[in-house]
Amino acid sequence: MTQKIALVTGGTGGIGTAICRALADAGVKVVAGYNSGGNHEKARAWQEEQKQDGYDILVAYGDVTDEESCAACIRTVEEVAGGTVDILVNNAGITRDGTFRKMSWEQWNQVLSANLDSMFHMTRLVINPMLENGWGRVINISSVNAQKGQFGQCNYSAAKAGIHGFTKALAQEVAAKGVTVNTVSQGMY
Ligand SMILES: NC(=O)c1ccc[n+]([C@@H]2O[C@H](COP(=O)([O-])OP(=O)(O)OC[C@H]3O[C@@H](n4cnc5c(N)ncnc54)[C@H](OP(=O)(O)O)[C@@H]3O)[C@@H](O)[C@H]2O)c1
Repeated sequence: MTQKIALVTGGTGGIGTAICRALADAGVKVVAGYNSGGNHEKARAWQEEQKQDGYDILVAYGDVTDEESCAACIRTVEEVAGGTVDILVNNAGITRDGTFRKMSWEQWNQVLSANLDSMFHMTRLVINPMLENGWGRVINISSVNAQKGQFGQCNYSAAKAGIHGFTKALAQEVAAKGVTVNTVSQGMY
């Protein structure tokens, strides 16, 4: 059986690191997506840390808010991993908290863009190869705040709730063709 390839966006972050390691433990070839404002050294240092702990994880730069940058990221993944993405974990996300009365359009837009538009950009780039292969897994990281709301997080709660709708609709379109789409909604840690 050929080794599956996974891309974990925000893979060098807190939860992303745990996801990368869990996938690697399961025998998957893992690529961690990173942005870090273009600080490639930081990603290389993270990669080295993983190596010290026995994890051989690849890295690929990309800005999940930007369609072109996502396309470049996927090209890098295919190059370094030697194949198309079988498992996509849409994990990258940010918060820009503030009560709604004080929230700027920029705070709203940045959070919607990083947490929700990112789903569109990244998933669009991997869904066709998954369907052609008859196998794929898309795992979207949401939050309990999607269902319950959170004071000071109208932007984040809306974005994370949007992920649920995206997940359920896309799952209906692709499940019969061997591609599952799910959301994981964790609480605070
Ligand atoms: N921590 C919690 O309690 C909690 C609870 C519920 C849900 N979540 C969700 O879990 C996910 C991971 O959160 P975390 O706690 O691990 O946070 P984190 O450590 O801050 O990680 C977030 C990751 O997202 C990446 N990212 C942000 N903007 C990006 C962009 N424009 N392009 C590419 N990557 C970008 C960051 O990459 P760089 O650092 O390289 O820029 C970072 O690795 C998020 O979606 C978050 O909303 C977290």
